[in-house]
Amino acid sequence: MSEFREPSIESMEDSQPEDRVLRPQRLEEMIGQQDVHERLAIAIDAARKRSEPLGHILLDGPPGLGKTTFATCIPRELGTSLQIASGAALGAPKDLLPYLTNAGESSVLFIDEIHRLPIAVEEFLYPAMEDFRIDIILGDGMSARTINMPLQPFTLVGATTRAGLLSAPLRDRFVVREHLDYYSVSELAKIVFRSAGKLDMPMDDETATEIAGRSRGTPRLANNRLRWVRDYSTSRANRLVDLEIARTALEMQGIDELGLDGFDRRYLETLQRVFGGGPAGIEAIAHTMSTAVDTLEDDVEPFLLRYELIVRTPRGRRLTERGEAHLGDAPPSGPQQKLF
Ligand SMILES: Nc1ncnc2c1ncn2[C@@H]1O[C@H](COP(=O)(O)OP(=O)(O)O)[C@@H](O)[C@H]1O
Ligand SMILES: [Mg+2]
Repeated sequence: MSEFREPSIESMEDSQPEDRVLRPQRLEEMIGQQDVHERLAIAIDAARKRSEPLGHILLDGPPGLGKTTFATCIPRELGTSLQIASGAALGAPKDLLPYLTNAGESSVLFIDEIHRLPIAVEEFLYPAMEDFRIDIILGDGMSARTINMPLQPFTLVGATTRAGLLSAPLRDRFVVREHLDYYSVSELAKIVFRSAGKLDMPMDDETATEIAGRSRGTPRLANNRLRWVRDYSTSRANRLVDLEIARTALEMQGIDELGLDGFDRRYLETLQRVFGGGPAGIEAIAHTMSTAVDTLEDDVEPFLLRYELIVRTPRGRRLTERGEAHLGDAPPSGPQQKLF
C-alpha cells in the first residue's frame, strides 16, 4: 500500500477538491453496479490468492458512472501502485514508453479515454498487453534494429465512453470487459445520502430521493446537484435542507423531474422545432445548436436514448412520443451550454 501513488487531481478530472472527498476509495464503498462489482471483486481476489497479475480490464459506459472510480479502487484492493494516462495525451508510442517501463509487477496502468489512442500507439500496446514486452526500433534505414524489451507483468485498465470505437484487436486483448449502466434512483439516493454525510449536510430520505431522481441515473450529476442544493441552502435557507428547498434549488437550475437540464431540453426542442421531430443527422443537430457532435454523443444522447425520448434510425435521430410528451410538461430550456 505504501507505494500507492496518488494520482494528480487534474488527471482524475476532479475540478473541485470535494470530488476527492466524495469519490469512494475502496470497492466496498461503491454503491450499485452490483454485477460488475462482484465480478471484479472475484477477479481481484483470485489474482491476489494466486499472486498473479490481474487480467486486463476494459470499462465502458457514459460519463460519470464510475469508470475512473473503479479503476482507482482496483490497485488499492490489490495493494499495488497506479499510474494514470489519458488516450488523448498519448500521441505516439514514445509517450507510452515511460508508463510501460515504470509499471511495477502487478501494478495497474489506467488509460482513460482509451478509444482516443492513435493506431500506432495501439499497436505498440499489443505485445505489451499480451506478452509483457515491447519492440523498440533503434536507428533507421539499413542500420535499423529492433530491440525486444521485457516488461514487468502489469494490469492495463482501459476506460471509454465509446467502446464501439475501439478496434477489435485491442478490445480482444482485454480479459474482463464490463459495461457500466445508469444507476437506479434508489442507488443514487444512497450515494446522495452518503455524500451529504461526507459534506456534513443534514439530509432526509425524501430529499435524497428527490435529488437522486433528478440526476439522470449518474452519480457524478447526483453529487453536483447535491452541492448546488448545499450552496443554495447556505445562501438562502440558513443551511436548512428539505424537500421543498431541494426542489426549488434544482428548478432554479432548470433541472426537471427526469433530471434533464436546459441543454438536454434544447436538444429535444431543436429536434422538434427545427427538424419537425426528425429524422435528423447528428451533425445537423450539433450545428444548429452550435455545439460539438462529441458533446451530444457523449453527454446528451445516451440518457435520452435510454429513456426512449429519442431513437436512432438509419436516417438520423427522431423524437419519440415520449420525448414529445416530455417537452409538453417541461419548463422551457435554459442555458446554452451543458451545465456540468
Ligand atoms: N458506484 C459509485 N458509488 C458511489 N459514488 C460513485 C460511484 N460511481 C461514481 N461515483 C461518484 O461519481 C463521481 C464520478 O465518477 P467517475 O468514476 O469519475 O466516472 P467516470 O470515470 O465513469 O466518468 C465520482 O467522483 C464519485 O464521487
Ligand atoms: Mg473518468
